[in-house]
Amino acid sequence: AAATATLSRDEVITSHPYNNVTDSIFQKIGTNLHQQPSHPLGILKGAIYDYFDQQHPGTFTTFDGLAPVVAAKANFDEILIPADHVSRSPNDTYYVDPDTVLRCHTSAHQAEILRQGVRAFLVTGDVYRRDSIDATHYPVFHQMEGVRVFNPADWQAAGMDATQFAETELKRTLEGLAQHLFGAVEMRWVDAYFPFTEPSYELEIFFNGEWLEVLGCGVMQQPILDKNLGPGQKAWAFGLGLERLAMVLFDIPDIRLFWTADQRFLKQFKAGDLTTKFKSYSKYPPCYKDVAFWISDAFTENNLCEIVRSVAGDLAEEVKLIDNFTHPKTGRTSHCYRIAYRSMDRSLTDEEINALQDEVRSTISDKLKVELR
Ligand code: PHE
Repeated sequence: AAATATLSRDEVITSHPYNNVTDSIFQKIGTNLHQQPSHPLGILKGAIYDYFDQQHPGTFTTFDGLAPVVAAKANFDEILIPADHVSRSPNDTYYVDPDTVLRCHTSAHQAEILRQGVRAFLVTGDVYRRDSIDATHYPVFHQMEGVRVFNPADWQAAGMDATQFAETELKRTLEGLAQHLFGAVEMRWVDAYFPFTEPSYELEIFFNGEWLEVLGCGVMQQPILDKNLGPGQKAWAFGLGLERLAMVLFDIPDIRLFWTADQRFLKQFKAGDLTTKFKSYSKYPPCYKDVAFWISDAFTENNLCEIVRSVAGDLAEEVKLIDNFTHPKTGRTSHCYRIAYRSMDRSLTDEEINALQDEVRSTISDKLKVELR
């Protein structure tokens, strides 16, 4: 695994009008939590590597240091994401400039690795998405991508057609993975849609009384293989979110905890040990502040959340729409959002929270075309 090249601030936060990367996002680049063997994300990555190594020793090449700044082409076009797909919107994706993004999934590396002639690989990395704020959403998280290519001898020996063979092999592989991580759990396959696979599925497991989606996968669309590796092959691909799985496996209640430097969190986990159940060391009280404003057509919740994150950082626990009404006479729409502030490491003072809320308010009125109420 190659090391991530260091990216300077100027390379990521450019003056291009399309740029929407904030400082708090830039500062996450290069942290590479998944490379720390005793961090929950590193432990999970290691456990998945172990599974593939046991099943197919030496078969999968692993990449876990590919830089997250990628060509928009690699993130979208090369894996057949249509020109009008929502994920391309700057409301959802961080753009460095119109041709360059912070990858929004590890699928961004499929084509380039196939072009290197690698036929089975796992890619782990940080991915970036503009999103809402709550206990399970964070604008940076980690994914692992898996791809395996087969040739005609493989499906002919099994007496199946190529797609059927890849699909069967994919499902067997991922059911085995889920069992390796979760033990004897109930599982089900749900039909899904991804532009780069057909057929596509999500795997769900029954855990703590509910069905939980653990990954997306499918049989790779043929043009991706034909173009980047050569004709006559077939492949499966999957992508899974490491935080989501780690929260379930280790009982981690809030996604911000993955980023804490607090030893009371970090000390609880041990490299190679999947059995740790996180014990909350303390829970400080949340403090709620409301902000209401008249919106304009350009308003989006992701833009609001970006402001809250840049002002309050990880002290912002949740941003929730609690009131939404349209004035019968003027036709204007008002939103009221409730912001929950809470530190996971200490208690916050009233002064501190009031100062944050004041800055959130003034930044909203400067940057979003809304009128505070
Ligand atoms: N890239 C998809 C996502 O982020 C997951 C995926 C990967 C689905 C590979 C199918 C194949 O949601």
